[in-house]
Amino acid sequence: MTAELVKNFIGGKWVESKSGETFKTYNPANEALIASAVKSNAQDVAEAVATAKQAYNDWRLMPAPRRGEILYMVARILEERKEELATLMTQEMGKILTETKGDVQEAIDMAYFMGGEGRRLKGYTAPVEMPNKFGMALRDSVGVIGLITPWNFPVAVPSWKILPALVAGNTIVWKPGEDIPASSAMFAQVFQDAGLPDGVLNVVQGAGETGAALVKHPDVRVISFTGSTNTGLKVYTQAAQLGKKVTLEMGGKNAILVMDDANLDLAVDAITWSAYGTTGQRCTATSRLIAQSGIKSKLVDALVEKAKTIRMGDGLNPDVDMGPLVNQKALDKVSSYMDIAKGEGVNILVGGGKADLDKGFFFQPTLFDGVKAGMRVEQEEIFGPVLSVVEVASLDEAIQVNNSVAYGLSSSIFTENVNAAFRAIRDLTTGIVYINHGTTGAEIQFPFGGTGGTGNGMREAGQVALDSFTEWKSVYVDYSGQLQRAQIDNRE
Ligand code: UN1
Repeated sequence: MTAELVKNFIGGKWVESKSGETFKTYNPANEALIASAVKSNAQDVAEAVATAKQAYNDWRLMPAPRRGEILYMVARILEERKEELATLMTQEMGKILTETKGDVQEAIDMAYFMGGEGRRLKGYTAPVEMPNKFGMALRDSVGVIGLITPWNFPVAVPSWKILPALVAGNTIVWKPGEDIPASSAMFAQVFQDAGLPDGVLNVVQGAGETGAALVKHPDVRVISFTGSTNTGLKVYTQAAQLGKKVTLEMGGKNAILVMDDANLDLAVDAITWSAYGTTGQRCTATSRLIAQSGIKSKLVDALVEKAKTIRMGDGLNPDVDMGPLVNQKALDKVSSYMDIAKGEGVNILVGGGKADLDKGFFFQPTLFDGVKAGMRVEQEEIFGPVLSVVEVASLDEAIQVNNSVAYGLSSSIFTENVNAAFRAIRDLTTGIVYINHGTTGAEIQFPFGGTGGTGNGMREAGQVALDSFTEWKSVYVDYSGQLQRAQIDNRE
């Protein structure tokens, strides 16, 4: 357990909440107490927003290349503290140490990438209608940004929001997932140590009430949210009434399509990693396998054998392949889908229940066979190590099944046929498409996000991430010394 109470980070100081209330987090691998944290109410949020608002003027005026240098320093400190931070993350949310280190690495990559944006933040010029006049479009900062992030990527997902928002000159109030207060506090400390001025990044710990106060606060003009579809849609509705800009990343029901000509061994390895890695608790996790008839039974047999070899346990143990689910609620939710599957006539070929370990929220790697397109287990996000197999006759049918879900985050096809691969690139409707690679592992320099019910059309990562955190300012400079009227037809 971390010795001290995890506090809010406001104006560069660690402060208690006004409510005086606290909440606790437990290691999902052994149920030991990990941290107690303050629970913030609307007053705490208001104080954090006022602090961010005050810090905004100086921060927006700091030259962007200087802001970028602070992000480079964030990257360097994260490199030094990777092991320490990743260890705490594993203790708080359960995924294995190599994965929590990868989580920190994504933030390092993003810090270098967005640090470079300090010398780009590109706008554009275009010719104008009049002589002796100049026009340009600039990216401008917005002001105070509100961030709400989940527990499954305690550092990477917040970094996709914090780093572009900062380099663009905004200040931030961040509400991290309630399962990871200690990791998020350790991450926030990195920014202070990197020289970020006080008040530019503020953290309020808490749960739904805290996030709702942030969404409702009139001085927060942009909300960037990653989390469940239910909460995301509430955030969107509430923010829309207040005219705010919102970026949403919600669920996924990602599929791997395996064609008869696929490299079987490669497909087995990739499916196993994407379905059972991170205990299936990624929005990009593979939860559907859409297999062509000629390869399906060989593939399923190999996957069942592979699933049986997965070693579960404490993610700090290097011999462990898969950690627990994050908490009891997650275990109950995943378990409830076993009954739903049985009710739908699905065959559970492997797994199907809580793992036999003394403590912790472990669930067995599970494979559902005989799943038909349209079943609940094929449509709904389960967010656990559960893979549904749907058999199809052709590439056309595989694409059609892939596209017939509410979500649209990532999809993948395994084929050795270049024509099939390009047809899949053209016709799969997800925001991310992989060829001969699982559905997880998006890199930070490309847009990340999904179509349909996964989001609201915005994207994170890559340069387009700046669209969430900037306003366009169009500037016209008339140096003719006369009144020149645009949009007047004066050519006669
Ligand atoms: C998430 O699950 O919310 O592509 C993000 C991936 C990771 C990010 C996942 N880079 O799986």
